[in-house]
Amino acid sequence: MGWPTNPQTSKPTKPLVVDQNALRHTFERAFGRAPEIVAEAPGRVNLIGEHTDYNGGFVLPVGIDRTVAVAAAPAEGKRVRVYSADFDARDEWQVDAPRRTGRREWRDYVRGVAWALLDAGYELRGADVAIAGDVPLGAGLSSSAALEVAVGGALCGIGGVEVKMQRLALLCQKAENQFVGVQCGIMDQLAAACAREEHALLVDCRSLQVERVPLPDDVAIVVVDSKVQRALGETAYNERREDCVAAAWALGIKALRDASERDVGPLPEPLNRRTRHVISENRRVLEAVAALRSENLNRIGKLMYESHASLRDDFEVSTPELDLLVELALRTEGVIGARLTGAGFGGCTVNLVERKAAGRFEAGIIEPYRAETGLVAEMIVCRAVDGLRVSRLR
Ligand code: GLA
Repeated sequence: MGWPTNPQTSKPTKPLVVDQNALRHTFERAFGRAPEIVAEAPGRVNLIGEHTDYNGGFVLPVGIDRTVAVAAAPAEGKRVRVYSADFDARDEWQVDAPRRTGRREWRDYVRGVAWALLDAGYELRGADVAIAGDVPLGAGLSSSAALEVAVGGALCGIGGVEVKMQRLALLCQKAENQFVGVQCGIMDQLAAACAREEHALLVDCRSLQVERVPLPDDVAIVVVDSKVQRALGETAYNERREDCVAAAWALGIKALRDASERDVGPLPEPLNRRTRHVISENRRVLEAVAALRSENLNRIGKLMYESHASLRDDFEVSTPELDLLVELALRTEGVIGARLTGAGFGGCTVNLVERKAAGRFEAGIIEPYRAETGLVAEMIVCRAVDGLRVSRLR
């Protein structure tokens, strides 16, 4: 028996990470009919390359087996009805007139993707849509990008609209920037759309060129959620972006991607340190890719710790809790490297770990972290999965 076919690419799609039967039942309970399409997109963890995407630089994310899945069926007329299983809440709007709620909530991400597709000239049809996911919210694993890309895949799938993955990622980013009002870069949406099983993705965020980098078999990617919630909408992320724009402007370059070491000295505080981070982080991404290709794990580990120090000292987006998790990882045998991942200001660390060492996390990291902070960190051992998958159910 073959896999169902991806209506966007006509290629066979692999089975979904989410329980497809459960999602089907959710849809049937919400709308009293059967879904026709399921689209699923993963959250992401970034191995290295932080706060480089909006500077036109390099990132190295992995799509993880925590996903958002969207079941959908076309409806008569223009009405779109949406049910979110995670929030147990509904939404409804006319397909050609999505409006902001003004509350920056899950509905805005769904409506925003429709808005961006319409704005780009694509025609959408009325639909019933049910959403369920298991990407932790607010942990920095890009639940919002997974939601946007899965919704985009579903709306395109039932509307018969064909969009290339890169373009869909850009439209989802536009939805988040302009409709929801969060100034994220392109990394998360691109990872949710283009991730590849057992691979990391080297993304050149200027050209949007994507290269797959195989992950070594004997290494596990372990995410540790510090349980300090981060909010991307918060001013700190935008302030860092503004620092980077100001530094590039002062240097007379398009983006900090084009800066070099000798530019750092003359810049005022803190623009000099922000620039130094971006320059060194871009270099680390390329070095990490070379190290992954030659299976030089010690080198990758060292680069991850350096990345964390740079994010802590030069870019100033770490927290005492994230620093502690990285310090504990450094002392735990079998951990190859660790660093904060995502925007920072809370959220998660990413750890590269010898497979046999994942069992040491409880005693080496989780327990001492609880003793010092009173917080119960959660560890998630991740599998690298494919980006957006769309399958037709009948
Ligand atoms: C968030 C944003 C990304 C990227 C990271 C930092 O996840 O959504 O675009 O800027 O922060 O690397």
